[in-house]
Amino acid sequence: MSGSFCILGLRHKNGRLCVKVEDMSKTAATSDLLQPKFAVVGAKEREKNHTVLQPIMTDLIAYGANVKQLHWNIFGPHFRSIHLQLDEIYADTLEAIDTVAERITQMGHSPNGTVAFVGENTEIKDVPEGFIKDTEVLLLAGQRTHELIGLIRSRMAEIEDVDTVTADILHAIVEKFEKHHWMIQAQRA
Ligand SMILES: [Fe+2]
Repeated sequence: MSGSFCILGLRHKNGRLCVKVEDMSKTAATSDLLQPKFAVVGAKEREKNHTVLQPIMTDLIAYGANVKQLHWNIFGPHFRSIHLQLDEIYADTLEAIDTVAERITQMGHSPNGTVAFVGENTEIKDVPEGFIKDTEVLLLAGQRTHELIGLIRSRMAEIEDVDTVTADILHAIVEKFEKHHWMIQAQRA
């Protein structure tokens, strides 16, 4: 923690003039800024953020695992385009997971992305094991994406009046998955 020690004669980043060498981490506000009591959002709002965001993060992780399962197991004449499309969806899923998890952390809560926790708590059901025909992959991908959107939208409604910043984050995530849903469905017509 060398960055927390002041340099004689200079001002520390917390504004105090350094008159003797001391560990500023004990008094500096910098490290405290990470503590929930200094968060810009109130305690009640932070709690609500956590209860809304953790299930969304859980379902996004389970959804992503299913998308990859389909990506690996697809076969049929439309293999290549759907195989690649599923990886585009997966990339957006990873980004969404990270955004939601870090929003939970910003709220002073610990995001839980462990395999055991996700397995026990997700509402997204696993796709069948084994190789799956391309038309069936589209059907399953469409169903799972539809479920995910429904779950995020219903939880999103709980945060709209509590934290508009979080709501906007979720709006952007839903928009991406609704676009993916449309693209999946368009191929099934
Ligand atoms: Fe791959």
